[in-house]
Amino acid sequence: MSQIIAPPPIQGHHLIAGSKQQGDGFFNSTSPADSRVIVGKFPKATVNDANAAVTAARAAYPAWRRQSRVYRAELFDNLAQIIKREVDNLAQLMAWECGKILNECRAEVIEGLHMVQYVFGCGRMPNGDVIASEIPEKDAFMRRKPWGVAAVITPWNFPFAVPLWMLGPSLLEGNTAVFKPSEDTPAIGQRLIELFLEAGFPPGVINLVHGDGIAGEALVRNRDVNIVLFTGSYEVGHKIQQISADFYDRMVASEMGSKSAVIICEDARLDLAVTCAVLAGFKTSGQRCVSAGRMLVHEKIFDKFADKYISAVKRLNIGHPLDQANFTGPVINESAVSKVLSYNDLAKTEKATVLVDGGRMTDANHSHGWFLSPFVYRQEHVPGKRTVREEVFGPHVALVPFKDDADAVRIYNDVEFGLSMAVITEDFRKMRYYREECEFGMGYVNLPCIGAEVHLPFGGVKKSGNGHPSAAALTEAVTHKIAWTVNHAEEVKMAQGLKAEVG
Ligand code: UN1
Repeated sequence: MSQIIAPPPIQGHHLIAGSKQQGDGFFNSTSPADSRVIVGKFPKATVNDANAAVTAARAAYPAWRRQSRVYRAELFDNLAQIIKREVDNLAQLMAWECGKILNECRAEVIEGLHMVQYVFGCGRMPNGDVIASEIPEKDAFMRRKPWGVAAVITPWNFPFAVPLWMLGPSLLEGNTAVFKPSEDTPAIGQRLIELFLEAGFPPGVINLVHGDGIAGEALVRNRDVNIVLFTGSYEVGHKIQQISADFYDRMVASEMGSKSAVIICEDARLDLAVTCAVLAGFKTSGQRCVSAGRMLVHEKIFDKFADKYISAVKRLNIGHPLDQANFTGPVINESAVSKVLSYNDLAKTEKATVLVDGGRMTDANHSHGWFLSPFVYRQEHVPGKRTVREEVFGPHVALVPFKDDADAVRIYNDVEFGLSMAVITEDFRKMRYYREECEFGMGYVNLPCIGAEVHLPFGGVKKSGNGHPSAAALTEAVTHKIAWTVNHAEEVKMAQGLKAEVG
């Protein structure tokens, strides 16, 4: 590996009504691959800072919503050109700040770009309906209106694409926004907003505040916020929903935890199944919201699959995100390390059969970062085993045997989450059975349960989401539909035979 040089630290700032602002308290963003590397120093927003950002977004709203939709879309075309210019720089910064392998960071930038291109394309597409009326002289329409101000609160693991999934449809439809990136990835969040400004988005249409839950909660409690768009943990998402329940016209779209699974049927092609299970379990070190913490394996092929899986997992290179030879990098921070290690211990306490015993990597190449090697175990899906039900969000995978398709569906659904699933089979009847019986938002056949594309809905059910998927499908959450009826007759005519005579 050639020497990897860390970039100089970035000076962070909030961005409120187009002006860069500092605060009293600061926090550092450090690289998870090497905690000695400071990616940047950022102000920590207070409640007042968060409220000032909402005020700025509210002030910018009337002029923005009155702009032509095509004009707003064309700013996204500008943004797309700028992102194309910046792909490599953005990917490098992201690799340093969130620890994902450079190729994954590049893919994420491209995913964000795709969202921007999609939104630009939507600008000239129909966005309402012409609807029949009972009265021949009446024309009736469905049109969409923006809600107002969106608070966009996003996680560190997709620090560029997920904000764009939310900001794209929100701003296109005429909402304005306050964006709070994760406190683990403020630099990439700030860079994204700089690109919006360069693309010509007016000051105040998009505002940025850095910080933790204090800033996030202040945004959610602000009555001038009409929409909260959130991706992150169930605990935080649920709290957002509870606070928002008190607001009469608050829309919340939340995408939360998961315990996703790959289901490997008896007829599966084994090599394909192993590839899917490695990618689903260990790509991004198991830190995608769609990562599979469970591989459900038909008992008749369990041993054959497990042998191949274990040897593939043992061959994975784990190391610095800028070294192209690596398959995956570190986990995000020290508390992620502790969480994963505690679940590894719990699996042992719950009498799992450990197949690959993972843990902290302490050799010279890994000792400065939050590196964990994969942990794989066999566990039956019986009551009382927490590791096969709770989200771990790290390189921690259970292989769970099942007897038949009905048993696999029962096990798959017997968790509180419902985000993503994959089934590995050659049998078209099984595919349909799993599609119809499993509870999920994104389903895959002969693929890992990761790797969504922006023009598809992205969200989950149960504790994973509240039915307002991100990406292309977010338009439903960031607009409300109005009925608009116009009478062309010279007298009033009412539907349902209602008499229109007065007096
Ligand atoms: C996430 O894990 O929060 O489907 C988003 C995927 C990516 C997005 C993941 N396109 O794996």
